[in-house]
Amino acid sequence: MPFQPEVNQELVIDGASYRIAEHPAAPGIPYGQEGRAGIVYQLVAQDGERRALKVFKARYRIPALVSLADRIDRFARLPGLSVCRRTVLSARRHGDLLRQHPDLTYAVLMPWIEGPTWVEVMGERRELTPEQSLALARSLAEVLAVMEEQGLAHCDLSGPNVLLPGLEGVKRSPLIALVDVEQLYGPGLERSKVLPGGSPGYVHKTAPDGLWAADADRFAGAVLLAEMLGWCDIQVREASWGENYFDPSEMQQDSDRYRLLAGVLRGRWKDRIAALFERAWRSETLADCPAFGEWLVAISPRKEDGTVEQRDAQERLAWASVEKANALMALGQVELALKEIEDAYSLAPELVAEAYVRALVEHGAQREKARDVEKALASYRRALQVAPEGSTVRHEIAMIVDRLEAQLHRAVPQAPAAISKPVAWFGYPTGRAILWLVIMLAGWAGLLSLSSLVADNQWLGFVDWAAVGAVVGLAQWLVARKVTSVTPWWLLVTVVGWTGCWALGRAAAGRVHAVWFTEAGRDIDLTVQLNLWWSTVWQLAFLLNAIFNGAAVLLLRGRAVDS
Ligand SMILES: Nc1ncnc2c1ncn2[C@@H]1O[C@H](COP(=O)(O)OP(=O)(O)O)[C@@H](O)[C@H]1O
Ligand SMILES: [Mg+2]
Repeated sequence: MPFQPEVNQELVIDGASYRIAEHPAAPGIPYGQEGRAGIVYQLVAQDGERRALKVFKARYRIPALVSLADRIDRFARLPGLSVCRRTVLSARRHGDLLRQHPDLTYAVLMPWIEGPTWVEVMGERRELTPEQSLALARSLAEVLAVMEEQGLAHCDLSGPNVLLPGLEGVKRSPLIALVDVEQLYGPGLERSKVLPGGSPGYVHKTAPDGLWAADADRFAGAVLLAEMLGWCDIQVREASWGENYFDPSEMQQDSDRYRLLAGVLRGRWKDRIAALFERAWRSETLADCPAFGEWLVAISPRKEDGTVEQRDAQERLAWASVEKANALMALGQVELALKEIEDAYSLAPELVAEAYVRALVEHGAQREKARDVEKALASYRRALQVAPEGSTVRHEIAMIVDRLEAQLHRAVPQAPAAISKPVAWFGYPTGRAILWLVIMLAGWAGLLSLSSLVADNQWLGFVDWAAVGAVVGLAQWLVARKVTSVTPWWLLVTVVGWTGCWALGRAAAGRVHAVWFTEAGRDIDLTVQLNLWWSTVWQLAFLLNAIFNGAAVLLLRGRAVDS
């Protein structure tokens, strides 16, 4: 039969007598709070001191709770973790009591924490002043930052597990305390056999079924901090989904609630705080979320001196640029956006880094799509310099850079021996080679049809071949420029090469025709003859082109080839 205590029922634990407290709002009903794993009752000792007794549901009564209590006892001195000091009722030490109430097996006796839970504050839409919002958030950031330094993580951070003694008039620090520490992660601790799944409204996309890791709290903590800081704003309170601010189905999406909260953080607090929340919200992994030390620095008061004011102004300016850049990116104006963000980055690097990396990656992707590998690579390399150490995004960018570098090395050999080949032959992608061939053939067809129109006029023929040659040369340059690193030279080489070769070829053909055929009285159609000539001239053109290219390469050899 489940443990169903009555108000004032006596329980003797380790020789001390406790009575079950009455619910302050429901006379005659025991003061108990139900959670996922059990019910926590308030007990009153003979001296009036209040304690909490957590009675577990059957599946959560695991013997390891006894050794866990010993292991986490040392953390009870850390701020906000006083519930780590606990007694676990076990058959060995509390046989008499457990014989009477078997359901109290492995129940936990711990300090009672005054005050509402964060979920109660939100559920009741209780108003907070900006000072209260700030003080609570600062206190939570402090508690979590200390835990992080000690290698600890709560692993089920959520509204019901954060209590707010500070709102009950308790003035001493910290103003918040954590409960429900049975799944604590930390040195010397073992993973619980009944790890809770993540709490709705605080779950990162990578961990829908809960986690047990050093950075487990980073996302949930960021959401809690943002909720606390935003709660003083009536719009945020009114937009709140229910017991938590976010609807669990909108997590990490660009939803109205997200934009409202981020906007309030920026407007009421600081850009830097909003940027931290945005980083967490957009993060791919927990490691990408800000550490609590970063939150603490951002939330802590700063001395009101001139440098601080100047810095705030710079941050505000930088953030305005980031917003402008975001709008430009949405319009596809990535180059302009990048310029905007570059300036912002020089003003407030920390604040702008994430947006800058995003813009650089977007720009890189765009250039890559346009097969402008070099520019893409330059953007990705810059993103690599800016992205935070150890972040997933940095890792991903590094992989892209490796891939593009390999691609480029395949395309533009760096060894002098290889470089002395004509530039035209450098690693042509198949698609481009086909396009090039098509242009050549189109040039040839255009040339022949024009030739028949101007067959009688030597000079017109010359001009016509030169013009088509120039067009073909230009087209060749357009097709081939992406795979060479000597763009301006290449333009000169191909256009001049083709114009010269084809025009000279036409002049030669006209002369030979006149001497060999017309004057000698032989009758051969000029078009047929031009066809024959054209194939010869094309080969000649290749030869001359190779010479032009070779000369260009020789000239350039002394300069570093930008690969
Ligand atoms: N030490 C405590 N002091 C005061 N209230 C507590 C204490 N521990 C838990 N509670 C209350 O009981 C609720 C359930 O406790 P919790 O330990 O979170 O259980 P569960 O593991 O079932 O979630 C909490 O949300 C909180 O309201
Ligand atoms: Mg709980």
